[in-house]
Amino acid sequence: MSTNLAEILPAAFREHPIDCALILGSGWGDALAPEMVHAVVPYTDLPDFGAASVVGHKGELLLMTLAGRRVVVFSGRRHYYEGCPIEQVVYPIRLLKALGVKTLLITNAAGGINANFRAGDLMVLTDHMNLTGVNPLRGPHDSEWCTRFPDMSHVYDPELSQILLDQGGETMRQGVYVFSPGPSYETPAEIRAYRTLGADAVGMSTVPEAIMAHAGGIRVAALSCITNMAAGLHSTTLVHEEVLAESESAKPRMAALLKAFVANCPKG
Ligand code: HPA
Repeated sequence: MSTNLAEILPAAFREHPIDCALILGSGWGDALAPEMVHAVVPYTDLPDFGAASVVGHKGELLLMTLAGRRVVVFSGRRHYYEGCPIEQVVYPIRLLKALGVKTLLITNAAGGINANFRAGDLMVLTDHMNLTGVNPLRGPHDSEWCTRFPDMSHVYDPELSQILLDQGGETMRQGVYVFSPGPSYETPAEIRAYRTLGADAVGMSTVPEAIMAHAGGIRVAALSCITNMAAGLHSTTLVHEEVLAESESAKPRMAALLKAFVANCPKG
């Protein structure tokens, strides 16, 4: 990896402090209505990251003014199930740290496990379960990034999460997200086990980035769009098109919430 990561970006990224960053899945980047876009970098221009390969994930890094704040947006992400090393999945976090970003909101699509949830709900993450054995901090210890055994008691920042809850209204859900490595969806037996363990939603992203960012001193909040009820909790089979369709209909609400979050997050 490059030693001074931020230098591969256009100078505009380094000219003024950045207030916050968004990592967006499932085409939500298109829904933002920024006052101005200062720079667009296709992921193919970030050699250590590479092109996003999943339908619905665009693959652009943007610097924009949104709600009067200076915001970096990863529109599309890399997933562990694509077969890339975990270092590549969390590359955006290294870049954000190099840019001095202190606040991050991560979004994802997820399957609902909590029986009170419905497709179309939005859920603020209160915690996560990583049962995969995959950890982005595995490997030689980088003492400049974090301690060898970083605490994970409070991954999702309560103050940032409260902004989402305040701005999202009464229908906002809260819960525990379980990281499933994918790319196959879970079996009904796995979902029953996750429910017994206390999970409210399941998805194939977010947790590596959240671990990396929290360990590296970046404040994190995360938001799931419940695009379907998880395996065994509904009568139909799971298909990616259903996830994309539900993500698409959540776009206006998601865009409004992202903007409200950005408007209320701490200044960089
Ligand atoms: N499982 C895992 N990931 C998902 C799901 C699901 O049901 N829905 C959207 N992403």
